[in-house]
Amino acid sequence: MILITGGAGFIGTNFLLDWLTQSDEEVINLDVLSYAGNLENLVSLNDDKRHIFAQGDICDSTLTARLLTKYQPRAIINFAAESHVDRSIQDPEEFIQTNIVGTFRLLETTRAYWSTLENKAKQNFRFIHISTDEVYGSLASGDEAFDEDHRYEPNSPYSASKAASDHLIRAYYHTYGLPVLTTNCSNNYGPYQFPEKLIPLIIVNALAGKLLPVYGDGQQIRDWLYVKDHCAAIRRVLEAGTPGETYNIGGRNEKPNIDIVHTVCALLDTLYPRADGKRYQQQITFVTDRPGHDRRYAINSKKIERELGWKPIETFETGIHKTVRWYLDNQIWVRNVQSGTYRKWIDKNHKERAL
Ligand code: NAD
Ligand code: DAU
Repeated sequence: MILITGGAGFIGTNFLLDWLTQSDEEVINLDVLSYAGNLENLVSLNDDKRHIFAQGDICDSTLTARLLTKYQPRAIINFAAESHVDRSIQDPEEFIQTNIVGTFRLLETTRAYWSTLENKAKQNFRFIHISTDEVYGSLASGDEAFDEDHRYEPNSPYSASKAASDHLIRAYYHTYGLPVLTTNCSNNYGPYQFPEKLIPLIIVNALAGKLLPVYGDGQQIRDWLYVKDHCAAIRRVLEAGTPGETYNIGGRNEKPNIDIVHTVCALLDTLYPRADGKRYQQQITFVTDRPGHDRRYAINSKKIERELGWKPIETFETGIHKTVRWYLDNQIWVRNVQSGTYRKWIDKNHKERAL
């Protein structure tokens, strides 16, 4: 079996659901159920014995050691993190705790467990660390896309905490020989993304008749990848990746934020027209920029394409259509995640942006 952390969050949920449609191998899912973790994502697995849920913190070494000893997984995939840049700007502490201390503690308990394995199991064991392209910093227009050798230049407390965790992963390979691999992926979108991130926030606000906040001039560029393509890449890295290596994963879909917002509005105009016949784009409003806002990310994913034969299946057009459709079909899910704490955060973030 394998152990994943953060399997009740956006990418972890998609990974788990896809894994169990393709494999009978059991998965232990360790998740603290922070505001971003939602067991409702996994209701379809309620009677599925292949999914073993453990509520807990990756910082809790006693718990992780107990899980490893009891279940003897052949691999660990570490999705658990604080993941939202705006939150890291307002309240960085939790990012240091989970992303740095949590990764360190998980590495330590993994190292202790791994050292007890028999030779073959030890050799075959894998620890995959899920990281981000944000560790590389910001590109100017015309710069080459990030490859795996690009220097680390993190600019937000979030990306700095992820960069620190990547360095720990690297050190555990070089110092202890722990068979770790790191993936650095670009912006994901798709089902189950918490509506604090750009695409789901725009869909949810549009449907609620609210303003659609675009930070700064809206010309910041992100490289968008449909979440299930990211999950397929992680499965390939687990199957065939080389320990000690890092793999950049991206969708070759560089788009300015304002274009993303216009695309979502246009799709909603077709799939769910406003009752008053007006267009959703009239809800767009430009608001105060994110401090230290990275201008452009772009990923060069030639290494994983060449060495592991991975390629994204979705184009941006097919992926965004599926995503908007999913949010339209799952409005109860949206209502349920918009709890009191969600509203408090959104109000605070938007007040500071003069929205
Ligand atoms: P998310 O915020 O949606 O989910 C994070 C999950 O981790 C939640 O279920 C949460 O409960 C859990 N968690 C948080 N702290 C924990 C702790 N201390 N112990 C155990 N569980 C904890 O995040 P996501 O968007 O699914 O991102 C998953 C991973 O992928 C993160 O490491 C993130 O840095 C990375 N990543 C995300 C993107 C993206 O676009 N979303 C892109 C590249 C990389
Ligand atoms: O690049 C990978 C990263 O992508 C991941 O590591 C992070 O976990 C993930 O959250 C994401 O970070 P971003 O900051 O790029 O994502 P976000 O959806 O928050 O913002 C996308 C862009 O849209 C960014 O330039 C800020 C802008 N934005 C965001 C929000 C929430 C807006 O203009 N308005 C908004 O309301």
